[in-house]
Amino acid sequence: MQETTVTRIAHVSDVHMLASRPSRSRAGYSMGVRFVSIGRPLDAQARARKFQLSLAAAKRSHADHIVVSGDLTEIGSPAEFEALAETLHDARIDPERITLVPGNHDAYTSMEAWKWALAGPLAAYASSAATVPGKVVDRGSVAFLPLDVTRSQPLTRSAGELTASAAEAVERRANDAAFRQRPLVVVAHHPPFAHAVGAWQWIDGLAGGARLMSLLASFTNLYALHGHLHYVVDKIVQLGRAHAFGAPAIVDDKEDRPRVRLYDVRDGGLEAAGIVGA
Ligand SMILES: [Fe+2]
Repeated sequence: MQETTVTRIAHVSDVHMLASRPSRSRAGYSMGVRFVSIGRPLDAQARARKFQLSLAAAKRSHADHIVVSGDLTEIGSPAEFEALAETLHDARIDPERITLVPGNHDAYTSMEAWKWALAGPLAAYASSAATVPGKVVDRGSVAFLPLDVTRSQPLTRSAGELTASAAEAVERRANDAAFRQRPLVVVAHHPPFAHAVGAWQWIDGLAGGARLMSLLASFTNLYALHGHLHYVVDKIVQLGRAHAFGAPAIVDDKEDRPRVRLYDVRDGGLEAAGIVGA
């Protein structure tokens, strides 16, 4: 019997890294950090440790590629990106095997923060990270389309935006014969589907997401990996199989129990292959 080669993808999301601090006190953090962290302990070491454990779990699962789908940091401050980069470098995983995309939290300090991080502490990861729409991270049996869907907004909103030109860029790639026979995987922070309540969609949803939903329904080899909701999602988009997958939040992991989603690329499709630590 012929052996089939399986490509494994590990999906980590919502790290919400804090700046490294020796103290565990809440008082040292800015109003902004305290506001967006309501309900979560402000423990920088614990968050770094959770991220470290999730990367170790991804490595142990023999993942060929790891995606981290946004909210890498709590407010996108330089010190938070530096802390994230330190944990990534310490994991000793080839940066070519990691795809990073930003989330709404990464843009709260400045819309320039992501660009700054990719030119600075995250430079080693820039070639496979979200930069311009339509960028392809081609890994042979699977190709990734990392997307930056962040927008400028106050801390009281948590929306994302898929611009018309970004959606067109995805469509162009999906129409490209070079990608027809293998999974083409959009990696974006926000889920493509809308919240049921319009007001909540405005506050927290992905503007322009309907366009991505219709692309997912039209192209059987197109998939979306997202975070943002902090819980596991397998969304069926017509055709009887899940085409949008959401990962749980690393920041919400119980210490020492990382939850990393796995997918296998098999026979030209992508399928969920369980959760490490669940
Ligand atoms: Fe998040």
